[in-house]
Amino acid sequence: MATSTYPLLEVENLSVAFPVSGGFGFGRRSVHAVNDVSLRIQAGETLGLVGESGSGKSTLGRAILHLERATAGTVRFEGRLITGGLPSDIASLREQTAMIFQDPFSSLNPRQTIGEGIAEVLRVHGKAQGAAIPARVGELLTLVGLDPEHATRRPQALSGGQCQRAGIARALAIEPRLIVADECVAALDVSIQAQIINLLMDLRERMGLAILFIAHDLAVVRRLCDRVAVMYLGRIVEMGPTHTIFDQPLHPYTSALVAAIPEIDPDRPLPADLLRGEPPSPLSIPAGCPFHPRCIHALPACGHGPAPGLRHRADHAFACVLHDRSSDSIHPVTKGALQHE
Ligand SMILES: Nc1ncnc2c1ncn2[C@@H]1O[C@H](COP(=O)(O)OP(=O)(O)O)[C@@H](O)[C@H]1O
Ligand SMILES: [Mg+2]
Repeated sequence: MATSTYPLLEVENLSVAFPVSGGFGFGRRSVHAVNDVSLRIQAGETLGLVGESGSGKSTLGRAILHLERATAGTVRFEGRLITGGLPSDIASLREQTAMIFQDPFSSLNPRQTIGEGIAEVLRVHGKAQGAAIPARVGELLTLVGLDPEHATRRPQALSGGQCQRAGIARALAIEPRLIVADECVAALDVSIQAQIINLLMDLRERMGLAILFIAHDLAVVRRLCDRVAVMYLGRIVEMGPTHTIFDQPLHPYTSALVAAIPEIDPDRPLPADLLRGEPPSPLSIPAGCPFHPRCIHALPACGHGPAPGLRHRADHAFACVLHDRSSDSIHPVTKGALQHE
């Protein structure tokens, strides 16, 4: 284990914008997919990243792995600059990070057997040579709960859950220190989801893996993650330890997401009025707090000025001004919805 004093991953003020060609009279516009995001992940830690579809989770995950160009801000891996960094530092990031995707079929090559795909990674990254390769392939398949004989099969011959395990085995072949798992259980049946979550928890324990776990399903995040970051329109609006985010959310958006988890009490009717409408387009982000048009607690001032920055209370950060006035201003809703006292 490295004895470095740096966090494994440090993201500071990261923004990613995509230019889009505008219609008549609009000229060049940008989709601000990620906006001024700062976060850290320590070795062995699992950070959940949640938010509705389009909130910028995948773009942030890809920018962290240097698969997307940042328009501003920095990403550091083990203290070394990745954004605009040296080729050797980017190569080192590639050797130590991997991504797991939602659709396991699309990340596996249909013309390769599972074993060939893993062997290729081992060879390219110099992790095993010659006769050691098939042995290591067998070990990796066993590690993810597959039979070593699955090495001879093609992805089409496996179930969705088996494919996801094979995808994880391929990601683990490089012996990564950080995995970005992007909606990696979203396409699977609930029972298979649970198996994959257990597998990730087990691997984290055994290998000291850090995981950025991207999901829109908070129930899954609650089981797996040490901390949670909530994204809305490209910004982190709340971040903190998992129990704090679930039990004492301070941003009305988080409260609404948490209240919408059916697993907490399947008999409780969903609070229909905690979240108005759909998120606005990231092409035209509202002035003031970007969440204010959907916020049931919004004050007139919330619609003006710059987006509120993150306020910190110990290890809990939230971007909402309501708590400047009274610490209880949004809690009645959260308590009623969550604890049904
Ligand atoms: N390559 C791209 N070009 C233009 N817009 C993009 C691109 N990738 C993502 N976006 C836009 O950026 C926003 C965030 O997308 P994404 O990161 O995929 O969100 P999420 O993963 O939370 O669903 C969306 O509005 C999406 O349409
Ligand atoms: Mg996504």
